Amino acid sequence: MTSIFNSLFKRQRQPLFFATDIHCHILPGIDDGAPDADYGAELVMRMSAWGLSRIIATPHVVGEVYENTPESISAALTRLQESMHAKGIPTTVQSAAEHRLDDLFSRNIIADTLISHPGKHVLIENSFMQEARDIDNTVILLINRGYTPILAHPERFVYYHSDNLRRYRELHDRGLRFQVNLLSLAGRYGSAPKRTAERLIDAGMVEFFGTDVHRHEHCDAIEAYLSSRDYDRLLKAVQKRPCLNDTAFNIS
Ligand SMILES: [Fe+2]
Repeated sequence: MTSIFNSLFKRQRQPLFFATDIHCHILPGIDDGAPDADYGAELVMRMSAWGLSRIIATPHVVGEVYENTPESISAALTRLQESMHAKGIPTTVQSAAEHRLDDLFSRNIIADTLISHPGKHVLIENSFMQEARDIDNTVILLINRGYTPILAHPERFVYYHSDNLRRYRELHDRGLRFQVNLLSLAGRYGSAPKRTAERLIDAGMVEFFGTDVHRHEHCDAIEAYLSSRDYDRLLKAVQKRPCLNDTAFNIS
């Protein structure tokens, strides 16, 4: 009886409100995301069903852990696209990176070898333990070199949670743009990142959204979220400040 009741009143999954994902780990075998090309293609198939027609894959670039290069990333993209082609998946997949702010990042700035999104947007992240040393000057340096820096999932850095958004405002005012994870809004990382993501959106500081999908469990969580009342609330909130996912990356 309960299952009949649940299926009668099950909420329909709604489409995503953007068609370009700018943050996910679907390239095979080069970070902690998709382990192989077929797995990556299955993730793309699921993500396409949410309304995504363009996916910018962002493997980690982290010193001594995932020292990805343009060559390693483009080889993985080719393997993924071959598997997608064999399965008849038409979604556009491109590649960029998610750069950790570490010594390797500093070397990449100096050597002019950052791996950026179209239009010189560069996706950066802190470590989860502490804010990157000298992040303020790094932001200024990037902007002076013509980049638009985007901080991946600011809501997940719990050391920013205790000062009523003050540090977020400071970084945002310096020109750092913010990209919130749908997985945070889905509650995947707990209640504090979820609440902080909602507060950042309400404060008008979120320009971009990302899935940060690494594996099928993440797709499960996003699909449940797209059927939730929380997602209805997000759709209302983003009307006040439309996200830039579909407009910011149309230049090479
Ligand atoms: Fe990520």
